[in-house]
Amino acid sequence: MSSKMIIERIVNKESIAVCAPVLIDAYNNEPWNDRWDMVTAIALLNYSFDTPGFMGWMASLNNKVVGACVGNIEPYYTGQVFFLKQMFVSVGLQKSGIGRQILEIMKDDIAVIGVTTAILFTGKAILDFYTKAGFIEMEGMRMMIYG
Ligand SMILES: CC(C)(COP(=O)(O)OP(=O)(O)OC[C@H]1O[C@@H](n2cnc3c(N)ncnc32)[C@H](O)[C@@H]1OP(=O)(O)O)[C@@H](O)C(=O)NCCC(=O)NCCS
Repeated sequence: MSSKMIIERIVNKESIAVCAPVLIDAYNNEPWNDRWDMVTAIALLNYSFDTPGFMGWMASLNNKVVGACVGNIEPYYTGQVFFLKQMFVSVGLQKSGIGRQILEIMKDDIAVIGVTTAILFTGKAILDFYTKAGFIEMEGMRMMIYG
């Protein structure tokens, strides 16, 4: 039987809950080695869902969620911008084109509502993934943290 991938919009919190194990799998491994658990992952994804302008997509392979991308449309002086907050694919299925396909659908869907800019923070180890999808590094920008 051939595998069937579906990418669809996240429209409810039940979908968010099934994305949480994939977030944990992706971010608790290289290169991040985070320590997400179901409570913290669901809290983060629910927070994103509840934030104004939420948009999210999830990829399923044979009815199992294997990847997702979530963020929010935010106002800026240049117009509206999609702020991509989390993007993750199950470790065992990474580098098989799932992330790229999710980003293509994301770009199409935000374009439909007139949004042509997407912005995100990521690690150096991930830059190539986004540059291959048409993103460019913002010269001179640095992410900072206090505390
Ligand atoms: C980053 C991530 C979402 C990419 O998803 P993916 O499904 O593995 O990516 P794809 O298979 O669609 O890759 C598309 C291209 O980017 C490349 N690529 C994918 N992940 C990469 C990485 N971490 N570093 C460099 N290149 C990468 C692929 O090799 C492929 O290149 P090609 O077109 O020359 O073959 C996924 O690896 C992941 O979940 N990583 C852990 C969590 C994470 O870092 N999320 C992003 C934080 S903002």
